[in-house]
Amino acid sequence: MDTKLLYIDTIGCQMNVYDSEQFAKGLRPMGYTLTSSLDTANLVIVNTCSIREKAQQKAFSFLGRLATLKRKKPDLIIGVGGCVAQQEGSRILERMPHLDFVFGTYAVGRLPKIVKEIELKRRSFVDIDNSGGIDGLEPIAVVPSAEDNQSPTRFVTIMRGCDNHCTYCVVPHVRGREVSRNPANILREIRNLVKSGVREITLLGQNVNSFGKKEGSCSFPELLFQIHDIEDLLRIRFTTSHPKDLSRNLIDAFSGLNKLCKHIHLPVQSGSNLILRRMNRKYTREEYLEKVDRLHSICPDIAISTDIILGFPGETSEDFDKTLDLINKVEYDNLFAFKYSDRPYALATGYPGKVSELVKKERLEAVLDLGKEYAAKKNRSLVGSTELILVEGFSKKQRKSVSGRKINDRQWSGRTSTNKIVNFTKGRGFYSNDVISKGQMIRVQIDKASVHSLSGTVVEGGEKVSVSTKQRVFPPELVEA
Ligand code: 5AD
Ligand code: SF4
Repeated sequence: MDTKLLYIDTIGCQMNVYDSEQFAKGLRPMGYTLTSSLDTANLVIVNTCSIREKAQQKAFSFLGRLATLKRKKPDLIIGVGGCVAQQEGSRILERMPHLDFVFGTYAVGRLPKIVKEIELKRRSFVDIDNSGGIDGLEPIAVVPSAEDNQSPTRFVTIMRGCDNHCTYCVVPHVRGREVSRNPANILREIRNLVKSGVREITLLGQNVNSFGKKEGSCSFPELLFQIHDIEDLLRIRFTTSHPKDLSRNLIDAFSGLNKLCKHIHLPVQSGSNLILRRMNRKYTREEYLEKVDRLHSICPDIAISTDIILGFPGETSEDFDKTLDLINKVEYDNLFAFKYSDRPYALATGYPGKVSELVKKERLEAVLDLGKEYAAKKNRSLVGSTELILVEGFSKKQRKSVSGRKINDRQWSGRTSTNKIVNFTKGRGFYSNDVISKGQMIRVQIDKASVHSLSGTVVEGGEKVSVSTKQRVFPPELVEA
């Protein structure tokens, strides 16, 4: 079989990252290996996102630029997957005839067949059929290979779609109704990942709180308990949790499960009850703040992050002030803020009271600035403390730097349980044969803090963590308590 090169460009959320891994696995038996060089590829797939207008524009501008490459290499096959594909279907091919195929969010499992068809017949193809459900729901089981993502942290999609109807959101349209995976399959997938060296998993779903409800399989906290029992898995994260469904059981899991990381992403979207109602979020700011209080009382050092939309139709400066006030009350560890944009099929697109771009921009900047203040404050409070870090690899700076540096100067990177990035070096007292490896839990003393990250040195002396080149089984005391 010829070896062919596959280039995947992934835009958007973690779910797309997970799906892109499925694309690669599905195409591997057909002889496709991943390449990071666009120019050498035989097949290019762009996995798109349509959550906001900007993400969609990013997809179209990248796809547009591929026309030059196609002219140079007429045999190149180009496909578009993900949410924009599902949303736009054949309109994408009409707009960009240099593309070969469009496959929607329901067609992940059919990708190998589609590519085979195009290789043989060389004609364009559109598959946005959603009638048979999502046959890509179960990940493709293949023997792990060297080209698989070698990171010790991985995403695992546990459910797809969304049954909520937030009025600004396109997701229910492009990802369909909510479906949860079978818990036994999820557990099998995670056990296999752990066997291949993965130590931390992030469970993905639009609203993990409603996992298994429709199917009557098991609740999300029950699933967490079962995953927690997997030996050699060190950390569990999940995202996203809808505030209206955040149950007491799930909040309690933060004190009961020591592998569950002390971080929750709890998108509030707005601090104004009026806007929350028009967004159809089904909670009030008071109910949200009550849940935040409960989280803090169960787990005092839990980190909370959020998403905020600025300039939703009808948002007045009073509504906006309430959002600022809520941020001041919660003191988020991290926040993601977006200017509202109209989305196809979303109800708010037809709402009156559109806010001008200028006002949206001003509000966005104010929220981002306030968010940075709190993120920096939270990070500063960790200076001097010792944190347990899961080593993920070399730091970005290290990866970019010229080779030939002394091994002791190497900068590594990992995260705290609270999801803060920590770049660290070995410091004095470590020798060149003390090798730090990916997937290790290590204690790091935090020396410096910025808005986005922390830096420090591996702890020496009595608490020094012994390290080796091999993957180690970690003593229980290094699993976070
Ligand atoms: N405009 C702006 N932001 C949006 N989001 C979702 N839809 C829109 C939209 N139409 C944001 C929400 C969500 C995050 C993933 O994207 O904050 O939580
Ligand atoms: Fe969109 Fe709301 Fe569903 Fe999240 S919960 S995906 S914002 S509809």
